[in-house]
Parts: sequence; C-alpha cells; structure tokens
Amino acid sequence: MSKKQKIAIIGATGAVGEELLNVLDELDFPVESILPLASAKSAGEKVEFRGKSFVVQELTEEVFKKNPVDIAFFSAGGSISAKYAKFATQAGAVVIDNTSHFRMDKDVPLVVPECNPEDIKLWKNTGIIANPNCSTIQMVHVLKPLNDAFNLKRVDVSTYQAASGAGKEGMEELVKAMQSFFEFKLDEFKANTFPYTLALNLIPQIDVFTDNGYTKEELKMVNETQKILHKSLDISATCVRVPVLRSHSEAISMHFEKEVSVQKAREILKNAPSVVVIDEPENKKYPMPLFTSDTNETYVGRIRSDINHKNILHLWCVADQIRVGAATNAVRIAQKWLELK
Ligand code: A2P
Repeated sequence: MSKKQKIAIIGATGAVGEELLNVLDELDFPVESILPLASAKSAGEKVEFRGKSFVVQELTEEVFKKNPVDIAFFSAGGSISAKYAKFATQAGAVVIDNTSHFRMDKDVPLVVPECNPEDIKLWKNTGIIANPNCSTIQMVHVLKPLNDAFNLKRVDVSTYQAASGAGKEGMEELVKAMQSFFEFKLDEFKANTFPYTLALNLIPQIDVFTDNGYTKEELKMVNETQKILHKSLDISATCVRVPVLRSHSEAISMHFEKEVSVQKAREILKNAPSVVVIDEPENKKYPMPLFTSDTNETYVGRIRSDINHKNILHLWCVADQIRVGAATNAVRIAQKWLELK
C-alpha cells in the first residue's frame, strides 16, 4: 500500500472537483488530507471526504507554500492553471491538470493510463501531467487496442456532447431551459453558457471556431489523439452539443491498414482495459448516455463493418464525461504516478 497522499483540489466546488472526491474514495486512493480550493466566494464552504469535513480555501499564490501537498488536481479552467500551477509545483506537488492549457506543451506528458502510462515518467520535466479532453479520452480507449491490432490510418468522429462539458453552469442552464419549455416560455429563454438554447436543440459548435473552419474542441481531438497514440494519423472531428446532462456519445469510423472483422474487433474491445462492450442490436442493446452516468468505463456498441470497405469499421461509444472524461482519468493518472514516480 502506497504512502497516504496530501491532495489539493483546485475547483473543488465545481462539477469535476466534486466528482474527484467521489472517485478518489471509490478507487481506494490512499489519501491523508484534502485541501479544497476555489474562488473567494466559496471560501469557508465545506466538502466531505470519507466522513471528514474539509474547509474550502481561496486559491492564492501562497496557499501551496502554507499547506504543502503531494498531488494538486487542477479543474478550475485554463487561465487558473496557467497562473497557479507553477506555485503548486514550486511547493513540491505534482500537478494533474484537467484543462487544455498544458496539453500540447511538448515537455508535458498527456496521459490516458490505459493507453500511454509510460509517458507519466516525463512528469519530472515540469512537475505537470496533463489530462486530455473528455471526448479524446473515451475515443482513445477504443482506438488504442484496435490500432495495436489493425494499424489505424484514419479516424472520422462525430460527437454528441453532454451539457456537463460546460461544468455545473452548463448542466444548470440545460435544466432551466427544459423548465422554460414546460412553462411554455422556451422562446423567451436567454442562453448564456451555450451559444443557443440547448433544450430540444443540437448546437454544432463547442468552443470557438479557428481559421480552418474547425472548432478548438475538434482540433483538440485531432491533436491530442496523435500525442497520446504517438502516431501521426488523419483525423476529422465534428463536435456537437446535445441536450444530455452527463455522458458524451461518439460515432467513430476507423480506417485501418489491415482488414478488420467485427468479431475480432469485438473480442479485442471486450479485453481492452476500461472498455465495456454492449452490442446486441437484435435485443436492442447498445450504450446510451442516460444509463452510463456515474460509471468509470467507456461503453461500446453498434460495432459494424463498412458496407463497401473491409478495412473500415464503425462503432458507437459512450462514457460519463465528468468521470471517464475527467475525474476518473485524473485519479488513474495519480495511481500510475504513485506506482512509477
Ligand atoms: P467557485 O465555485 O468558487 O466559483 P465548473 O467547471 O463546474 O463550472 O466549476 C469551476 C470550478 O472552478 C469551481 O470550483 C470554481 O469555484 C472554480 N473557480 C472558478 N474561478 C476560480 C478562481 N478565480 N479561483 C479559484 N477557483 C476558481
């Protein structure tokens, strides 16, 4: 059993911060103490962990020096990581950063423990390990074992991303918009977190557009996947926000160098770490976002060969965005870090 760790959670009052506490407990992580940090407005609030209560403190430049920790999970947005991660590393902590800020920095490892655990050793470069984008994590859970077997050449993915990707505010905005609908006032609803009303709608924009017509979210999937798989690969993504609360879904098409049979692919995915295959179309069994919330696995179904090409496979993939796409991956990174550091 590893030595118990002192943990800071930056963004402890947010959707991912709260889930980190649940996952640390569920995965039996050896915790000595929790230092919950958030903005000044939340200072004094309490969070519970394993029957003990910890007081939320304001995130400041000095807080890590005054309360040294072993591991600091950052989940309060990219600008907060940009400003404060260095104070945590200078005070001796390893930072596991859930934002996009450091992900493509060549000195910072970007890790999905089921795919590239060995990269964790590079944490010594900067003291920081980056947690990938939520949509990337569940996709590489599937791509990695199939790439190992059939040599991936190209991926086309369309995402169906839940409101939780925009944090608590995003989920609250979706619930409020649905309430407005039932009060016959949806046309008066003013969207704030999302660019348009999300209830009864689909928004084909997540994050801002870049010059090439893709959004930043789409380019994250392209660039992060290559960094994690250590492979240059043709990838195109279309990311869509859907009126679902928590789990992201993805329709993924993969073009391989080798021929790929559905049966073999299914077998490989059944044995892949953190992947669960639910694939019985004849019994109407396939993964759906309503039933995957609060779980730590990536679910796969609708596995089928392309009608025209034997080297192309299509499937459907669903995972809890707050867990698999954020908190669970972060805790699994911490587990591996303890093992390998
Ligand atoms: P707070 O609740 O005090 O605003 P979510 O992703 O669910 O929206 O949560 C964002 C998290 O980031 C919250 O815990 C929030 O704390 C925290 N946060 C936002 N701004 C800051 C800041 N300037 N300093 C520290 N924490 C922040």
